[in-house]
Amino acid sequence: MREVSRRNARQSRRWRRELNSYRVSWKKIRKAAPDILVSQNFRSTKQYIQHGNVTVNDHVLDVARFSLAISEKLHIRCNRKALIRGALLHDYFLYDWHQLDRENPHRLHGFFHPGKALRNAAAEYDLTECEKDIIKKHMWPLTVIPPKYKEAWIVTAADKLCSLRETVHLRKGHGATLEDPRKEESEEAI
Ligand SMILES: [Fe+2]
Ligand SMILES: [Fe+2]
Repeated sequence: MREVSRRNARQSRRWRRELNSYRVSWKKIRKAAPDILVSQNFRSTKQYIQHGNVTVNDHVLDVARFSLAISEKLHIRCNRKALIRGALLHDYFLYDWHQLDRENPHRLHGFFHPGKALRNAAAEYDLTECEKDIIKKHMWPLTVIPPKYKEAWIVTAADKLCSLRETVHLRKGHGATLEDPRKEESEEAI
């Protein structure tokens, strides 16, 4: 009985720690990227699945949190703002790569989506060279040229870790939302 209550106490301490670190990292993300978080395009990624039941939106937020955690745990001095913004935009390809059709075959998605994400992100935000490098190289070694900035190395590592957790269902999502906020916007404009 005592062993069970000790285990419960340990569990609740762990959950409190996790909740606290989640709150702290969320605060940092909000401060570094308020414009990205409210963007219609960014919000539209809630309707696309990345792996398993995890949406692209949840995935990039996880990658931003993991990137922060890696840089802080390993005491890596880096540009945290670029790290967060690059992580949030690294999969900004804005389509569902599982739905193939004649017009959008999404062939070799793994190879080509960093370029598409970079074009979409650059059209909407003023990107720094470091942020561009994060987006363009995050699929390394698929994208042959290795990252130039340490922030890009961190996001590349965090992305692989998050993708693995999603693929083996260690990270479970809530599935995609059906509505596209970009549609609401264009309907309002009519
Ligand atoms: Fe990606
Ligand atoms: Fe990713």
